[in-house]
Amino acid sequence: MRRPISARTRIAVVIGHPVRHSLSPVIHNAWIEAADLDAVYVAFEPAAERFDAFIEGLRGGQVIGLNVTTPFKARAFALADIPDAEAKLVQAANLLRFPEDGRIEAGSTDGRGQIAALTAAGFDLAEGPVVVLGAGGAARSIVHALRGHGVKQIRVVNRTLGSALRLVDVDPERIAAYRWTELPAAMADAAAVINATSLGMEGQASLSLDLNAAPAGALIADIVYHPLTTPLLEAARARGHRTVDGQAMLIGQAAPSFEALFGRPPPAVDVRALCEAALADPR
Ligand code: ATR
Repeated sequence: MRRPISARTRIAVVIGHPVRHSLSPVIHNAWIEAADLDAVYVAFEPAAERFDAFIEGLRGGQVIGLNVTTPFKARAFALADIPDAEAKLVQAANLLRFPEDGRIEAGSTDGRGQIAALTAAGFDLAEGPVVVLGAGGAARSIVHALRGHGVKQIRVVNRTLGSALRLVDVDPERIAAYRWTELPAAMADAAAVINATSLGMEGQASLSLDLNAAPAGALIADIVYHPLTTPLLEAARARGHRTVDGQAMLIGQAAPSFEALFGRPPPAVDVRALCEAALADPR
């Protein structure tokens, strides 16, 4: 049973705009309860122009930390005093911590979340080229994690080519940039295609992608989890592809975030079933 909330209860947060669709509170509160912690995990949705002032006000530990989601990951990184190595590489943060000394620590766990999701699905990272759609905060975290796990060729396809080219600068031997119009060529012999844009998310533009250009054996992954079965995943399943949905990455990134926030790994709880129940019953 959950501990009663008191004046001593510690607060952790997911911050984004919009954020009401977020399943992070479902996941973290289930872990908090199972671990019998005196803590609560809630969602904040500040206006974009008030984000910086809002974060400044949290210095010193008014909340223990934040998971940061769209569109604040780059700003979160910029405001941090102590970014870890991953956040520095990614130039974006999905995790901020507020120790008592008043400084702000930043981390980036999205990429680790995607690696956990791919490996749980049985994907061998040495299988072949991986196509990443997008070059924003989540995409960059995934690209660097793929590099860190030995993927030999990563093809970044982005609407704004310049952002993809900045990733190439980091590792020209293993990262290549493609325009959106070159997507069929990028997918031609791909082992996996990962949508790391927000396209296909409820309320956002849809992702138009012709899977005919991808090999039948390619794994298709989507970081969007609202809806859980995105049009991309639906089309991929209809063609018989292996698929990985956004919830797998969400839970994968939440685990290291929980450990950073609460100083212990999450307990064993079937959070996936809880997320599915929450998605089926949006109040
Ligand atoms: P996040 O932190 O969630 O990754 P982000 O940093 O704002 O969010 O990145 C969003 C990604 O989705 C970017 O790659 C963006 O492409 P641009 O770099 O060209 O902006 C991509 N994206 C968003 N809307 C898009 C659209 N309508 N068409 C194509 N790509 C889009």
